[in-house]
Amino acid sequence: MTISNKEPTKVIRIGILGLGTVGQGTWKHLVCNAEFWPKILGVELIPTRASVRNLEKEREVSIESHQLTTDSHSIVDDPNIDLICELIGGVEEARELTLRAFAQGKSVVTANKALICEHGQELFKAAEDAGVGYGFEASVAGGIPIIKVLRESLVSNEFPLIYGILNGTSNYILTRMEKEGASFDQVLGDARDLGYVEADEALDLDGVDAAHKAVILAYLAHGIWVNLNEVTVEGIRRISNQDLKAAEDLGCRIKLIGVIRRNFSNNHVAVAVHPALIPLEETIARTDGVHNGVCLNGSVVGTVVLTGRGAGQDPTASSVISDLVDVVKHTREISSMPKLLHVSSSACSPASPEEIDGRFYLRLLVDDRPGQLAKIAECMADVGISLATVSQTPHENNEPASLILTTHQTNEHLISLALEKLKNLPGVMEEPVLFRMFDPNGVS
Ligand code: HSE
Repeated sequence: MTISNKEPTKVIRIGILGLGTVGQGTWKHLVCNAEFWPKILGVELIPTRASVRNLEKEREVSIESHQLTTDSHSIVDDPNIDLICELIGGVEEARELTLRAFAQGKSVVTANKALICEHGQELFKAAEDAGVGYGFEASVAGGIPIIKVLRESLVSNEFPLIYGILNGTSNYILTRMEKEGASFDQVLGDARDLGYVEADEALDLDGVDAAHKAVILAYLAHGIWVNLNEVTVEGIRRISNQDLKAAEDLGCRIKLIGVIRRNFSNNHVAVAVHPALIPLEETIARTDGVHNGVCLNGSVVGTVVLTGRGAGQDPTASSVISDLVDVVKHTREISSMPKLLHVSSSACSPASPEEIDGRFYLRLLVDDRPGQLAKIAECMADVGISLATVSQTPHENNEPASLILTTHQTNEHLISLALEKLKNLPGVMEEPVLFRMFDPNGVS
């Protein structure tokens, strides 16, 4: 009798909550690579069931009807399902399903940045208490493996500065406005047609999606859960073609960036999402289209820049599957996922506006009359801000003129005082437009 010493291949059955773009991509790539998983993991990974809103909808992956349900709970509770992918989006239902899966000893992988941003603290603790894994690589920057890089590859570093493009849709819009001179509304229409824009457009256009991701990166790098209300969040709606041209004249490009700065002398952390003029020599300034890019300034490694597709079916599925593989590996080899190693022993707290230094770009629509520029300069001087450059675009007779100013180094507190004065200054005809001038070397 021949006795085989080969153990039978174990099967891990995966339940996918939400079979939208990313869910279908995950299913597709798990199936396409089915022969590969036993070779690298010693187990088969089989997408087994998925929850959907509409059972009748046509889908690009072939799934038998008995594998679909409208009841996500039935998948979480199914004893045949070993692992859960939470890809339904939204916050409350996703939170409840995730906690329910943990309580049943099931690891969860997610792409849900809003959920982690709002409930990460609770969910990480619940996963740890339950001894299960919680993977969230796909929640930040789509296919770019930024979470793994931060918490594993760069573990010996501290990070005075992390910044980058964290929202593909807004980067697509800005790139086309800049390169083609197309209007915001025209490109937004195209972005909608291409399916880039979130159902709630404000998430992309007003910087909220990028802010969710910045909060997650701040936690990984500094161990602090910054409340979304404490994050400066500004979107791209006020960026005009004129601003993009003026930025080019200043040797810069305007990008919507997330910025996480830590001052190690007072342990203060500042998290912000806003448009910024970035010097052209920076890789992030040249990261275009739907791509994301993250620049990490590490205390040991120096500068590392990662760029790639930040959204979409295949790149995001790539990150989801990376987490699935990690969760399976770690649950087989050690009892839990690696701890977040960048959590510093010394607690940090949010920085105040006075502590956040920088230079600023201002565009003002003004009544073109004698002394107007002097009054504007006086508003700035009153709060101690010095102007670096001034340029005026003349308009036809009696029409308002556009004034573009840049400042010398000042801080967020003083510029907000100046802005208040400018808003109320006679002859200033609309709310001033303010962007930061990003200086990667001038980190306070
Ligand atoms: N709406 C997001 C973006 C998708 O445009 O980047 C990925 O979070």
